[in-house]
Amino acid sequence: MTRKILVTSALPYANGSIHLGHLVEYIQTDIWVRFQKMRGNTCHYVCADDTHGTPIMLRAEKEGVTPEQLIARVWQEHFDDFAAFHVAFDNYGSTNSAENKESAQDIYRTLKANGLIEVRSIEQYYDPVKNMFLPDRFIKGECPKCHAKDQYGDNCEVCGAAYAPTDLIEPFSAVSGAKPELRNSDHYFFKLSADSCQQFLRQWTRGGSLQAEAANKMQEWLGAEGENKLTDWDISRDAPYFGFEIPDAPGKYLYVWLDAPVGYMGSFKQLCAKTGLDFDEYWKQGSDAELYHFIGKDILYFHALFWPAMLQHAGFRTPTKLFAHGFLTVNGEKMSKSRGTFITARSYVDHIKNTEYLRYYYAAKLNGSMEDIDLNLDDFVAKVNSDLIGKYINIASRCAGFISKKFDGKLCESIPSLDKFEHLRNADLSLNEQVAQAIATRELQPSANFNFFEDLDSNEFAFINSLQASSEKISSLYECRDYAKAIREIMALADTANQYVATMKPWELAKAEGQDELLHRICTVAINAFRIITLYLKPVLPELAKNVESFLKISPLRWEDASTLLLGHSINTYQHLATRLDPKLIEAMIAANQESLKNMTESHSQQRHAEAQQPSPQSSPASGRGSEGEKPSSTLEPISETISIDDFMKIDLRVARIVNAEHVVGADKLIQLTLDIGEEKSRNVFAGIKSAYDPEKLKGRMTVMVANLAPRKMKFGLSEGMVLAASGSEPGLYILSPDEGAQPGMRIK
Ligand code: MSP
Ligand code: ZN
Repeated sequence: MTRKILVTSALPYANGSIHLGHLVEYIQTDIWVRFQKMRGNTCHYVCADDTHGTPIMLRAEKEGVTPEQLIARVWQEHFDDFAAFHVAFDNYGSTNSAENKESAQDIYRTLKANGLIEVRSIEQYYDPVKNMFLPDRFIKGECPKCHAKDQYGDNCEVCGAAYAPTDLIEPFSAVSGAKPELRNSDHYFFKLSADSCQQFLRQWTRGGSLQAEAANKMQEWLGAEGENKLTDWDISRDAPYFGFEIPDAPGKYLYVWLDAPVGYMGSFKQLCAKTGLDFDEYWKQGSDAELYHFIGKDILYFHALFWPAMLQHAGFRTPTKLFAHGFLTVNGEKMSKSRGTFITARSYVDHIKNTEYLRYYYAAKLNGSMEDIDLNLDDFVAKVNSDLIGKYINIASRCAGFISKKFDGKLCESIPSLDKFEHLRNADLSLNEQVAQAIATRELQPSANFNFFEDLDSNEFAFINSLQASSEKISSLYECRDYAKAIREIMALADTANQYVATMKPWELAKAEGQDELLHRICTVAINAFRIITLYLKPVLPELAKNVESFLKISPLRWEDASTLLLGHSINTYQHLATRLDPKLIEAMIAANQESLKNMTESHSQQRHAEAQQPSPQSSPASGRGSEGEKPSSTLEPISETISIDDFMKIDLRVARIVNAEHVVGADKLIQLTLDIGEEKSRNVFAGIKSAYDPEKLKGRMTVMVANLAPRKMKFGLSEGMVLAASGSEPGLYILSPDEGAQPGMRIK
């Protein structure tokens, strides 16, 4: 029976670029969707940009454009980025659409009609200069617990304490800098504390829709039976706000997290309009379609509590399952702009181009759990080169040439071993397993007294049969999102294929007299193995699979094709299918990212996820407001974690005289500096300060450099240190100068 499946990924915010962290989710979802489609299931994949809220409104204002202009530009960027990574949505919409407005307002009306909306006056900080109420994240001040300065209004990034913005010492508005005032305003609440909601959620979160880890988390948030820990959820925001107006409540807007998940419906509605699908069939209570949301663990709260409660009480079906995943680390650490590991989709494409390498690497790491996944850049190169090129592509590249050169591009009509053992197909696995293993462990190698032909038959039969028989196992691994295990299975098959080729040595047969028939057969088997392995990898490597399909002159591979073989069929001449990944490309990407950091004029809003955002039971429902989950785009970077004096002393800072400064031909950001720090030889440093300084004006100036930074090879030469410069979120860059009297080489400490 074919299943009817609707799949979503979380809607990315329209105020930041897509980065490799996001792609963990979109690639994971896309692989699953492609797999379902290959299986013959009806599967739709929708997503959209999440466009509403204060940060987007303020960012547009800062850029001097309307929010609509800003989100239109970002939509295109996101769309292009996803396309580059072969993430194939059936519809990519926007939460700022007519369809979404209709759905969000309808849901609100139904909740209200069901007695689940309550209006209460609350006291909140107001920015008297900017004339707006301030979300928690736009109020800063001193942490009431550890007294760290410049902390956000909901929690402290230094000590981790959660608190209300009114607890901050000396609060100020992150928008205008003004001292905020407490003012009253009516807010609209979704009554999550109502018995019907709590009971429903208690039962829903235990009903098998959540991974075990997520279900446990939910019990913590819900509290023990009868404890009724959930409080009402504040779903309104006051004007000025970029969002949808609340029906019959002038000046009040739906909070972004109310209309964001409804965006799944809005986007699906657009798909229905395009294709004639029936919206209700997928969304009405009692629907027999399956609904899956892929999300990051940071937004579980919204998807496992608010969203099902909204759906349930507005007459819609609830999700079949939520698939939550962990966060991406790069080289074992949080993505970092200064380490150059905050990698945007664009920067990956610009430097590495082949996006399927990343898809493969993520697939090899994802196991369907909520664990974080690490992109280790050395391992990335090694895995791509050894698995994809060394194992997989190698099968075809070693055999395909003989088919076109010697056999007119045509594969054998039949494979003798298969005919011989036809009666054993799928019946005697023990024979197959034994022989397959013997090939894999190289036990079976042709030798002087080895009865070559007799064993070739059984070897070959076992090999092909194991290739085909793996289909269901690999399929169930994709289904449960254990792609890592699926990839291991597939690569084990590729290993066997390579053993087979290595044992049979077609290149020697090609030189020997009278061996053409055997050569033809070996290459035919190898090409068939390659076809089946391609089929198994196709959800992960769609583009490569497409090229293989045209090389083999076959129609798009579907899962059921694993049971057939390609015989008596003409193929095209082999063209290079993929090249090795050059580690230099990665180095260049990291270096370029570090360099662009120095000239950053972009906001830091993209980092909102790399930083704390998980709503905690204390900070979120207790205050009845829900986490804004958004960060202002105009504030200072938070102070980094505390270090010891020893840590600091590791950095050798020296006073430097700029002896010479020159433009660098071909570099639009760099100036080449010659620095005297009292050593015999002067230092050569490339500094990304061209946007702010004229080299002529720098000559003779004193400044400060990091003298013990590992030298870095750049495109233009060796850089032997770094000069320091201040920068904020606004354009502008300011190098440092010591006070008069300081001499080159003096240590700064
Ligand atoms: N707009 C909300 C989602 C609304 S869904 C109705 C949002 N946007 S986001 O752009 O911040 O994140 C989009 C998705 O990407 C989320 O599922 C989030 O967990 C995921 N990721 C963002 N950064 C990530 C990593 N560094 N690592 C893994 N996933 C990450 O949240
Ligand atoms: Zn603190």
